Amino acid sequence: MRPKSPTPQVHIETFGCQMNESDSELVRSMLKREGFAFTEDRERADVVLVNTCAIRENAHNKIYAHLSELKGLKKQRPLVVGVLGCMAQNLKGELAEKEPLVDILAGPDAYRQLPMLLSTALEAQEQGFSQKGFALDLSEYETYEGIMPDRNSGVNAWITVMRGCDNFCSFCVVPYTRGRERSRDPEAILLEARDAAASGFKQITLLGQNVNSYRSDEWDFARLVCAVADTPGIDRVRFTSPHPKDFPPALIEAIATHPKVCKHIHLPLQAGSDRILDLMGRTYTEADYLALVERIRGTIPDVVLTTDIICGFCSESDEDFQDTYRMVERVRFDSAYIFKYSERKNTIAARKYLDDVPDFVKGTRVSKLVEVQRRITLERNREYVGREMEILVERDATRSSTQGMGKTDGNITVVWDKGTSLFEPGTLITKHIFDASAATLYGE
Ligand code: SAH
Ligand code: SF4
Ligand code: F3S
Repeated sequence: MRPKSPTPQVHIETFGCQMNESDSELVRSMLKREGFAFTEDRERADVVLVNTCAIRENAHNKIYAHLSELKGLKKQRPLVVGVLGCMAQNLKGELAEKEPLVDILAGPDAYRQLPMLLSTALEAQEQGFSQKGFALDLSEYETYEGIMPDRNSGVNAWITVMRGCDNFCSFCVVPYTRGRERSRDPEAILLEARDAAASGFKQITLLGQNVNSYRSDEWDFARLVCAVADTPGIDRVRFTSPHPKDFPPALIEAIATHPKVCKHIHLPLQAGSDRILDLMGRTYTEADYLALVERIRGTIPDVVLTTDIICGFCSESDEDFQDTYRMVERVRFDSAYIFKYSERKNTIAARKYLDDVPDFVKGTRVSKLVEVQRRITLERNREYVGREMEILVERDATRSSTQGMGKTDGNITVVWDKGTSLFEPGTLITKHIFDASAATLYGE
């Protein structure tokens, strides 16, 4: 399977969520093991892999625009183009048949086949023809056990603890692109955590589309989070994304009491109207969600709560939207990602309901929520002014190399003037917060 020398250079580009980031690290590891090399420079690559997302139409459009850039490159020189990830899985027919640019398609459960697919495509190219290769089977078992990810540098290490999703929220494509839910062996996860610590990572983020439904024999998510947080050398453990349905008291207790588990919960609400939540298949009501928020805030004082919301789902009326708006005002999230509903082919909503909210109405609703959330975020951030906050140093601030940037335990960005004191990425420092915007706290 080892490709012919000189060593083929692979360039990988990753779109979508953290699970794709984590998968790209697995892909890099598997390909390096088989003798491929990686380059940051697309112009020098023999192979370009694009790890894709299918969650909304604009994610698709972004990737199509990107692929057409690659067409230009492929005209100039021999190049193998592989499309990985959720869009490869979801648009297999369309991408395989209609897109001459694409040589390889591999879905999220088929990456072990990549070395073979790449070798075959490169060999064919050397002999002057093109050989397409597709690996798109979803698996009930694949968790890439035995493959230590080749991690991006930084302070944070991703560890995928479960794959797939069985929730089938009616709007969502993920159960179709990532297949059935399966959890990894806890010992393998803990081994990875120790490996990350040994490589100098200070923070671990546990990943899964439904991360808190993790289960492996006697292990549930609460036990797993604490065991990972006990890893010597690791200062912080985060996780994303949990579903509100899997929040037993033991998990809330674990977050509250383990000093290294961050007091930040991303708790996707999606909508505030019971009728819409039911159509979405979210399995909770507005009252359930509020009760959960109350339990969380009662047990974890100072918890940072963030959320995802969809505007303009099928049949959403002004009144339904007002319910969502009131929920946002009532819960006072620290921040929120707010999206226009985007119909995805073959989902339950696409098959059963009409995407009947006009685009401009979706847009207006998004703007209204963004506006109210911005005000709330600013008010909440201002509550930190005058306090001392512990910060994990990440890097230089994006806007100025004279400023440092890091995150609070609650995942809020802090910047400060570095002055003469240099802090290495990965150190924990304490700063006095003297000002706040809706995006950033300012420390001194
Ligand atoms: N597993 C996570 C969500 C992953 S997708 C969870 O259940 O919370 C991230 C976010 O994208 C979702 O929370 C949802 O708000 C949004 N999203 C998913 N499908 C969408 C669609 N068809 N249109 C618009 N937003 C969508
Ligand atoms: Fe999609 Fe729902 Fe699964 Fe999240 S829980 S990935 S929104 S189906
Ligand atoms: Fe996108 Fe797939 Fe993640 S659809 S959001 S890359 S699970």
